[in-house]
Amino acid sequence: MYRAPRGTSDILPKEQAHWRHIEQKVADICQLYGYERIDAPAFEDTQLFTRSVGEDTDIVEKQMYTFQDRSGSQITLRPEGTASVCRAYLEHGLHNLPQPVKLYYITSIFRYERPQAGRYRQHYQFGYEAIGDDDPTLDAEVIDLAWQFFESLNLHHLSLQLNSIGCKKCRPGYLTALKDYYASYTHDLCSDCKTRLKRNPLRLLDCKKPLCQQIANSAPRSIDYLCQQCDTHFNQLKKYLELLELPFIVNHCLVRGLDYYTRTVFEIQPEAEGAQSTLGGGGRYDDLIEELGGKPTPAIGFAAGIERIIINLKKQNIPVPSLPKPRVFIAYVGNEARDKATKLASTLRRTGIGVIEAIGSKSLKAQLRQANSLGIHHTVIIGDEEVEAGTVILRDMTTAEQKTIPIDQLEGELQ
Ligand code: HAM
Repeated sequence: MYRAPRGTSDILPKEQAHWRHIEQKVADICQLYGYERIDAPAFEDTQLFTRSVGEDTDIVEKQMYTFQDRSGSQITLRPEGTASVCRAYLEHGLHNLPQPVKLYYITSIFRYERPQAGRYRQHYQFGYEAIGDDDPTLDAEVIDLAWQFFESLNLHHLSLQLNSIGCKKCRPGYLTALKDYYASYTHDLCSDCKTRLKRNPLRLLDCKKPLCQQIANSAPRSIDYLCQQCDTHFNQLKKYLELLELPFIVNHCLVRGLDYYTRTVFEIQPEAEGAQSTLGGGGRYDDLIEELGGKPTPAIGFAAGIERIIINLKKQNIPVPSLPKPRVFIAYVGNEARDKATKLASTLRRTGIGVIEAIGSKSLKAQLRQANSLGIHHTVIIGDEEVEAGTVILRDMTTAEQKTIPIDQLEGELQ
């Protein structure tokens, strides 16, 4: 028996209501904030991701699905959505449009991770990017969108974590302070953190191991090392978030797992589980477009994992609207009735009435059982007598009441 590859799953019909509901909420909120949809290819040149996400990140080091295609090109299945949007922005000259350009996506993401609840090798993200402005009001708007999105889903008990990790001017000074601080703890750090200290010291701050976390809690804070511009930017952002009444918490250990971030970083987490099951995260990446060959172009974005949203909707017992299904079943007995049933099903569907027609030659009892188990409201029954008389029997499946009506009145009756 074949099984879905480890860390992937099928989204069966019974799960679809959650997915459609979230997609609808995404489309609604993005429209409210002026974001337009973009769909990028599932794979890109590997270099796009190594350059943007960063060589020393877990994603690039351990998690990318990379292969050589038949022409020898080095290809990677997208491990995140931002790099492709920036590539598309440059490729299609979107810098010629009024800035910021605001784009959103719902897309599959591939990361070779150790699968566990809420962590998969293929997952889906809803994300959005606002490219072309560094005004802190844009940061506030991007954070507001994320928060309002979760509100619109009725998800509660979430926390909004915020930090500023500075820019290429002030970050080096902070990293030096961080390394100096960690120098006296090298023996206490986990093996991953020992490597991080050499290669990516910022990531020391979000190690999940208890002892490393304890050390991180007293580490120097990036906000104390911000240059004048980054400091002003962060203070203005906080002011706007207060204005919008968003309940943010400044978290000095929040650094995010991708290297392109500058200044603002933020995450939305379920209060109970915290960072282990972050629902979504984002931030500024003011140098990325330039890094990819464009003019200096500030930008900010956010993405959330759809499976994790669904896990939380279920945990909080939040119902989602069920999907519309056909409400009418057509049962028949005999060959002539079958012809009539087939024609009738097609006619009704053309008027917009969803119909399931019995298939095969089951007994009437079995057909009614099938209609019942499908949750059908009304069954239309046709036998020899009805064919002869030009009528049908209309059965209300909840009350079992039946009446005979002329076939040409059926549509009106069902409407
Ligand atoms: P990220 O934090 O790597 O950010 O991923 C965003 C969200 O995707 C996470 O908060 C989580 O909910 C979900 N997620 C990540 N990995 C997995 C996984 N293996 N299984 C299930 N869900 C997962 C980014 O990818 C950035 N591109 C976000 C961004 C957009 N920054 C600026 N613009």
